[in-house]
Amino acid sequence: MSVKKEEQVLLAENETAPAGWGHKHVLDLDGFTRADIELVFKNTNVMKEILSREIRRVPTLRGKTIVNVFYEPSTRTRASFEMAAKNLSADVINLTPTGSSIEKGESLLDTVLTLQALGADAIVIRHQCSGAPYFVSRIFRHSVLNAGDGAHAHPTQALLDMYTIREHLGRLGGLKVVIVGDILHSRVARSNIIGLTTMGAEVSVCGPATLLPPEDIFPRVKFHHNLDKAVEGADILMPLRLQLERQQGGLFPSIREYARLYQITPERLSRAAPGALVMHPGPMNEGVEIAPEVAHGAQSVIEEQVANGVAIRMALLTLVLLGTGHVN
Ligand code: CP
Repeated sequence: MSVKKEEQVLLAENETAPAGWGHKHVLDLDGFTRADIELVFKNTNVMKEILSREIRRVPTLRGKTIVNVFYEPSTRTRASFEMAAKNLSADVINLTPTGSSIEKGESLLDTVLTLQALGADAIVIRHQCSGAPYFVSRIFRHSVLNAGDGAHAHPTQALLDMYTIREHLGRLGGLKVVIVGDILHSRVARSNIIGLTTMGAEVSVCGPATLLPPEDIFPRVKFHHNLDKAVEGADILMPLRLQLERQQGGLFPSIREYARLYQITPERLSRAAPGALVMHPGPMNEGVEIAPEVAHGAQSVIEEQVANGVAIRMALLTLVLLGTGHVN
């Protein structure tokens, strides 16, 4: 579909759908319907076309100021939010604890009130405390986008993961997705479980019992401890970064043991469905949760996930700030 045609579809949908885009914030996917996710994907298609142009910049958010506040380290999320905002001609400010008054002990409340007084139109926040973006959304007058909060949610990661799957396999409904590793502490797993089940995928999780949540938290998800069984017939394998500090907490005996039982190896990948995709939210511990030859092999879409992160975040910034998928 041409971009002009795609834009017309978006406009037509916005004009005819009575509910339309009803989200001021992107905090998690639990408030997102299937139609919301479809609308994000349609806008992302438009953004991808923009990114394919020689000059990858449109004036859609000219005059808007977006502040990225990252209390935790990040490469992909932070860089792609910054690129997304700049591609849409917004002004971007980046804050991290180092070099800002957060280092002097300024509270989150005062930081947000300061950014509001300075005229920020949106805050993108990553924070080590689950719920921090919700707190910010209650005091900040404008839009808040969650770039990862504690072990709670990473909605933009889940959206880019789902978009990447759909781009490759043409659908999400009915696909078998196996998420492997530390599900208990993973915001990526939680947001993906919510998003993927909303879209009709069959989600399984697999890991040592100490790294899985109680089964009743995710009643629509299958729980496995044996990865060799879990991968059989899977369409998507999504190992998570093993948070190595968990070993000190006694949650798994050794990295070598974990790798033996839970690493995505070429042999395990061969048990999955033909053409199964290998995904990873990054950063990877190659040789621990994923074998290097799988991470960089023909079935890996890990770099595409990163690339799609820019388009997804352009779509989300446009939707929350303008309330529409229209692209100027
Ligand atoms: N996937 C992800 O959140 O990566 P970063 O920590 O590099 O942003």
